[in-house]
Amino acid sequence: MTKNRSNYVDKIEILNEGLKVFFSNKSEDIFPNIWLRDHAKDESNWDERSNQRKTFTAKLNPNIKIKNANVSNEGKYIDIIWSDTSNNIQYSSEFLFKNSVNFSYDKTQIKIWENNEINDEIFFNYKKLKNDKGFKELLIKLYSFGFAVVTDCKKDMSSVEFLANKIGYVRNSIFGGLWSFESNANMADSAYTNEELRPHTDSTYSNDAPGLQLLLCCEYDANGGDSIMVDGLKIAETIKARNKDLYEALTKIEVPGNYTGDGVILEAKRPIIKLDDKNQITQISFNNYDRAPFRLNAELTKIFYEAISLFDNLANSKKYQWRYILKPGELLIFNNWRVLHGRGSFNGTRKMKGCYINKEDFDSACKINKLI
Ligand SMILES: [Fe+2]
Repeated sequence: MTKNRSNYVDKIEILNEGLKVFFSNKSEDIFPNIWLRDHAKDESNWDERSNQRKTFTAKLNPNIKIKNANVSNEGKYIDIIWSDTSNNIQYSSEFLFKNSVNFSYDKTQIKIWENNEINDEIFFNYKKLKNDKGFKELLIKLYSFGFAVVTDCKKDMSSVEFLANKIGYVRNSIFGGLWSFESNANMADSAYTNEELRPHTDSTYSNDAPGLQLLLCCEYDANGGDSIMVDGLKIAETIKARNKDLYEALTKIEVPGNYTGDGVILEAKRPIIKLDDKNQITQISFNNYDRAPFRLNAELTKIFYEAISLFDNLANSKKYQWRYILKPGELLIFNNWRVLHGRGSFNGTRKMKGCYINKEDFDSACKINKLI
């Protein structure tokens, strides 16, 4: 097997303010001295057992200088001697490459989709969870499409619990940890009616919305009740291409969500399309049911209503909706930070079980399996 050397170091240049690193893939970056010194990973600065910093950063000289630096191991490492250290401190090229200011993870595995681009690829047999390779296959589906249907599950809570514990752990919420539901007029939430539930993300009223939602169909003796999935990234992409101003409004205006009932009042707010500092989408949050009252000036109010109407109309268009009636023993699992979910109206009995998993635990499973 040939090694990926694109993140190796070709050469370095010691500058007054930092170290200029030229990587094999032709990218380059200047790492400031104080940053490099703060990330020293030798024995006295780094606890390898706990993966924690030992350096007392506040005591470092902010104007620290490099005494000497060399490229070693054919570009796999850089060795630095600092003005306050006598020993060589080794930095791996991989570490530096991943921390370059322009670094971004390869996102080619993420498939942004509309209805006709979804096929049998999203189905996955529960039995495959028995081994690590099978589990990784499910994670890849979830990472690529934002959802998957796990077939052949036992029609009780044990399969929900097993899968949740495989990825992370069951998250507790106002609905409990592991929940069972059917049409129930006594609960405050719209999820318990049998009217059509329009596409939305859950917990816009929570500062840290659940990352994954699991929904297992245990009993189905009904007409309708199809599960609806909509790729929030596709909706965002479509709006961006159609109307930049509305896209910008959706990325900037913080929309509050509210849950009042069952003895609590929960509130949180964030933009419908949340971006990171590199303008990449990190989270889609859209729930017209749970939107709390808030005011903007008259001009922005007009733009906001235009923007959410466009978003909601797209999410409710068949072109973007994957619709499927879950059979007993089928479990729908989806990324609540990306995919909107809904459910068609139905008559009859439909009994479901499910749970939430934290986003960070899903991310962790993806990192452990080297998807990100
Ligand atoms: Fe929901």
